[in-house]
Amino acid sequence: MVIEQFKDEFIDEVMSDEWQEEILPHKQMMAYYRCAIMEVETKFRVLNEELSLCYDRNPIESIHSRLKSNASITKKLKLKGYPINVETMEKYLYDIAGLRVVCSFKLDIYHLAQCLLQQDDIRLVKKKDYIQNPKANGYRSLHLIIEVPIFLENEKKWVKVEVQFRTLAMDFWASLEHKLRYKKVIDDDKESYIAHQLLGCAQMCNDLDDKMSSIKEYLE
Ligand code: GTP
Ligand code: MG
Repeated sequence: MVIEQFKDEFIDEVMSDEWQEEILPHKQMMAYYRCAIMEVETKFRVLNEELSLCYDRNPIESIHSRLKSNASITKKLKLKGYPINVETMEKYLYDIAGLRVVCSFKLDIYHLAQCLLQQDDIRLVKKKDYIQNPKANGYRSLHLIIEVPIFLENEKKWVKVEVQFRTLAMDFWASLEHKLRYKKVIDDDKESYIAHQLLGCAQMCNDLDDKMSSIKEYLE
């Protein structure tokens, strides 16, 4: 299993003026998010170990984690019209701590999600199943917003983490779609052609997933 941090967010950033009043609480909160990522990542590593003993294969191909950058946090709070402070970021942003779990097969996604959610220190905040209900552009993935407790010196703190589950094929599509579209202004006349092509690719990825699963079932 490959475990890596995506993006550059563990780098110490220069704080923008908006946070000057709250630099310390903000730093502290970001440390809690980092701890929450570690907690949830460990849970998946443990599950991967256990399931590989039971079924003789690893259901997880890779885990990627990221902490949202201060610039992105500030931008998102502004966009949503909330004041820039630690309280609003904790209350209104659900994706500051993020994990992406890439699985071998669709069924592994649901099994892992179920195993995670039945743990008695995990709270489910929100679930979006873009596998059962893909987005109009073809995006597929299972998103869970969970809360995990972080045990501090004198208290227990519940921290939100976004977990995205994808198969290799879903991840392939989403990564390239993001790369092709990110920060690009696409001409109106090209837009519908590109959207159509990407939707077709998403369908092919889904067909691949289903075909691979049926080969697995056949072998079993
Ligand atoms: P954000 O405010 O962007 O976090 O979105 P949201 O609150 O509507 O949540 P949603 O669960 O729909 O999406 C959250 C994350 O899923 C995004 O930040 C992306 O990482 C991923 N995602 C959602 N839609 C797409 C998509 O169409 N393409 C790609 N490549 N990734 C997507
Ligand atoms: Mg997001």
